[in-house]
Amino acid sequence: MRAVQIVEESGPERALALVDLPEPEPSPALSPGPGVVVDVHAAGVSFPELLQTRGQYQLKPPLPFVPGSEVAGVVRSAPDGAAVSAGDRVAAFCGLGGFAETAVAPEFFTFPLAPALDFAQGAGLILNYHTAYFALALRGRMKRGETVLVHGAAGGVGSAALQVARGLGGRTIAVVSSEGKRRVAERAGADDVVLLDEGWKDEVKERSGGGVDIVLDPVGGDRFTDSLRSLREEGRLIVVGFTGGSIPEVRVNRLLLGNTEVVGAGWGAYVMGKPDLNREVGAAIGHMVDDGVIRPIVGDRFPLERAGDALQAIDERRATGKVVLDVRPG
Ligand SMILES: NC(=O)c1ccc[n+]([C@@H]2O[C@H](COP(=O)([O-])OP(=O)(O)OC[C@H]3O[C@@H](n4cnc5c(N)ncnc54)[C@H](OP(=O)(O)O)[C@@H]3O)[C@@H](O)[C@H]2O)c1
Repeated sequence: MRAVQIVEESGPERALALVDLPEPEPSPALSPGPGVVVDVHAAGVSFPELLQTRGQYQLKPPLPFVPGSEVAGVVRSAPDGAAVSAGDRVAAFCGLGGFAETAVAPEFFTFPLAPALDFAQGAGLILNYHTAYFALALRGRMKRGETVLVHGAAGGVGSAALQVARGLGGRTIAVVSSEGKRRVAERAGADDVVLLDEGWKDEVKERSGGGVDIVLDPVGGDRFTDSLRSLREEGRLIVVGFTGGSIPEVRVNRLLLGNTEVVGAGWGAYVMGKPDLNREVGAAIGHMVDDGVIRPIVGDRFPLERAGDALQAIDERRATGKVVLDVRPG
């Protein structure tokens, strides 16, 4: 099969190679036992793969390896008792091995793909949307009617969080860095959009009537303190990632003074050993797809052999929505 491997840890320009490999064994990288074998039509590209090209991600398989954590495609075979069977269109989280014509995922991480979604959208349905649901509903204890500020809102996790927050009955304010990203956040369904360089904290305070209930932050860096200042009483700042490049520090007196919280949300490590939780989150996301609330925003698309260009788009802050590799036609 055709596949793309990371062959050295030198960054997205040179680290990747298109190779011809034997098909994978039908057991997933993420869990023991038989898995679901998927003929891949589209593979999702995300920040962790960028970090992997530099050896900077916590999951560090020996070189060379096939990266790619999530795919959409058609089931070739599934173990007894799985909720999907041969011929089904699915979205699947394989952890590794997604940048290839065939990938293997655990059955608890393989979900039927609704007819309303194409394969490219399916390739953006698990990592970002499960993370957003986990962060908002489970870690952030979001309630109907709450207002949610989303940083990096035109990005993968950010655009997903806008839609999940709406599905949970909330109102959203997106923070983005450019007019182009404003349009993406609006397409994703943001109720309000604020530009980073227009004094975003004061804008957010004004538009939310004094402060937001939740800040979802995949960016970190120097905006963190202003995010804390944007919270209303009993507000929660949910830490999801650090694309801004630096890990913020909190002066905890701010939490005391504001009666606020900082909450960590690390999806992968938490859900990996909890099959039932994944099925529960998958069902909640499935209902939001059926209700028309979730429609993954697909940004740039590249053929498999241009995986390096896809990762460079993310590296250079040009990516919007989900970056996708088209692996097979259709
Ligand atoms: N906690 C978890 O379980 C979990 C799960 C999935 C992903 N993540 C993490 O969440 C983060 C976001 O992932 P993503 O897929 O949404 O990434 P993405 O699509 O590339 O979006 C990230 C956003 O970050 C902002 N940003 C600010 N400074 C940046 C910089 N120097 N370089 C690149 N982007 C910058 C950009 O928005 P503006 O230009 O509008 O500022 C960009 O749209 C990553 O750190 C990822 O590892 C965490």
